[in-house]
Parts: sequence; C-alpha cells; structure tokens
Amino acid sequence: MLLNPISHCLITHKEHKMITDTHGADIYTAAEKSGTDKDSIIDFSSNINPLGMSESVKKAAVNSIARSNKYPDINSRELTKSISRFENVPEGRIFAANGAAEAIFRIAFYLRPKRGLVTAPAFSEYENALNSISSKVEYYNLKEEYDFKIQDDILNHINSETGIVFICNPNNPTGQLTNRGTLERIISYCKGVGAFAVVDECFLDFVEDKEKYSTVKLLDKYDNLIILKAFTKIYAIPGIRLGYCMSSDERLIDGLKKSGPPWNVSTIAQAAGVAALEENDYVKRTVEYVNRQRKYLTEELNRLNIKTYDSRANYILFMIHDGMDLKEEMLKRGILIRSCSNYKNLGSNYYRIAVRTEEENRLFIKTLKEITGSK
Ligand SMILES: Cc1ncc(COP(=O)(O)O)c(C=O)c1O
Repeated sequence: MLLNPISHCLITHKEHKMITDTHGADIYTAAEKSGTDKDSIIDFSSNINPLGMSESVKKAAVNSIARSNKYPDINSRELTKSISRFENVPEGRIFAANGAAEAIFRIAFYLRPKRGLVTAPAFSEYENALNSISSKVEYYNLKEEYDFKIQDDILNHINSETGIVFICNPNNPTGQLTNRGTLERIISYCKGVGAFAVVDECFLDFVEDKEKYSTVKLLDKYDNLIILKAFTKIYAIPGIRLGYCMSSDERLIDGLKKSGPPWNVSTIAQAAGVAALEENDYVKRTVEYVNRQRKYLTEELNRLNIKTYDSRANYILFMIHDGMDLKEEMLKRGILIRSCSNYKNLGSNYYRIAVRTEEENRLFIKTLKEITGSK
C-alpha cells in the first residue's frame, strides 16, 4: 500500500501501476523493459513540439540557474505580466502552475465538486484529480461513429448535481476540435446549473486557425469558465514544468494559489516562460511544420488502410485491424508509441503517435511498413 499524495488515502499497488501506466512519454519504463538506453528511444508517445526547445528559452533557463540559490518569486510576477500581455487577460485572472497538470489537481482540490463530468476518451488527469478528492466521475462517451466528436447531447449529462465539466480542445488522444458555438452552449448550460466548465486548450497552440476555437474571449462573459494552458508542449519544455489557467472569477484564482504548496513555479520555469512568450516566429514555424508533417503521416497511414480521425493537433489517433501489439513491435525497433488500450471507449487496436521531425516521421512509416509487411 502507498499513500495518495493529494487525498492522503491509501492506494493499492494495482492503482499505483495504473498511475505509472497512464501516460505516453515514459521512456524510462520503456528503456527498463526493453533493455535499451532511454536517450536512444525515438519517442512518438509524447506530444511535444518537434522543433525542440528554442535557443532563447534554453538560454533563459540556463542563466536563471545562478539565481536559483534564492527562492523563486512566490507570485510569479514577471511571468504573470508576460502571460497577461500575451493573452490580453488581466493579471488577477491568471494562475501560474507547475505544468497544466498541477492546475487540474488544484482546481479539483479547491472546488471539491461532488460530481464531475469528463468526456471519454480524454486526458486521464481530469478523472484522477476528481478521484483524488472522492468526487463521483461521470462520463460522456465519445462515439467512434461520430469520429469521437462531442455532440450537443452532452448537455443531457449536465444537471444541478454536476459541479464541474472538463472539455479538452483539441481533445487528447483523438485530436478532434469542438467548435466555439458548442463550447459556449456547454459553458452557458454549466453556468445555468451552477457548474464550472474547464476548457483544456493545452494543444490549441498547434492548431492553424486557433483563434476560431479559443474560448479566451468568453472569459468576460462567463465567470464559471476556467481555461487551461501549457508551456510544456508548444515550447517543448515538459521537463521544466510550466502551465497556467485563467478565469474571470478572481476569488477562484486566489483560492488556487492557496490550494497547494507555495513556490510551485521554479525560478527556471518562470524565466523560461517569460522568454518563451517572445517566441512568435518559432510558434508560427512550428504550426506550419506540424500541420505539413501531420498531413504526410495521415496520408501514409491511410495508404496502409489504417483508419485515422482527422486530428487537428500535433498527434494522430489511429486504429489497426490486425491483432498485433504494435507498441511492442515498434519498441523492438527503438520507437516508442502510445498504446490507447487503457483509454475508456478505445481498445488495444488504437494507438496515438506524435507528429515529429520529417526524418523521424519517415522512419516511423518505413518501420510500420516493415512490421505490417506493406510496401
Ligand atoms: C490535454 C492535456 N492537458 C494537460 C496536460 C498536462 O500538461 P503539463 O505537462 O503542462 O502538466 C497534458 C499532458 O499530456 C495533456 O495531454
């Protein structure tokens, strides 16, 4: 038995295994299992900007180490100012976090909803955060027949018992976008029943016409809206840990600051974040590159008769008919992909790959052809 760090309840080894098995990006376990060096694994399982960390962000992070003999700014002042300018959202509406995942757990911890609605399949930490405070988790099942897109009948699952609804846009792992009209109907419906609506826009920065989908402009209108953002993916700094959330409910933002340990954002993360928000050209180049490469991978997968789901993000969900363990086969050849067998409403024939560099993407397709015996 182990102790859940948030709820302080005992958890079983089975639950602990589930925590460690829940995500992609685990090159450490993959290296252990396959007996290879973790740095030689080509990681298609985590959805990180393939252009890598930009030089200015790296420099800012390295320079900040000299200041790390002092505590970080407890209020992340300079970073919050930069986010405020970048998003055009007042500073009092921003909470800087140790990755978007920390914000998710703080939101659950502060609001303590009795019930929460999550879509399935989706990022598992919404559910984990709700479970950690013993909130009842309800599911809105995304259906394969609609390419896993949210339909308007989601409103039938929200009622006066619902305390919080999590929507991921674009959704992880499907890559599907929900349009702003549907999102506003959900947020407004939540407002009517007294529920918070959390819209996770962590991957929206990879979407070509993201302004059409962003809910930032709805913050003024709906004080029950909470938007999640990550630096980790688009700026390729998952190891530094940095994210934030925004809401026009400033009491909530204040509550989030008090709902966990102080100094949650390190000096290094604060400096990297300030530098990252200056990187407009790098983001523009990233979006062009990722969209071109996603098109290449999708076309090649479809050519091999593999079903894809029109992802708009920097990753692709696909389904194979063959009963083989593709993750295992890929790992034997030094490539780590994300098996989606532990997502609700997916199964062992679903996989997710990140869009990586042109060379790596070509290698992935070549390897897939070798494994499946295709030309
Ligand atoms: C949809 C989604 N939201 C949030 C996160 C958490 O991101 P971070 O690394 O910033 O904590 C992830 C990580 O994979 C994610 O997929």
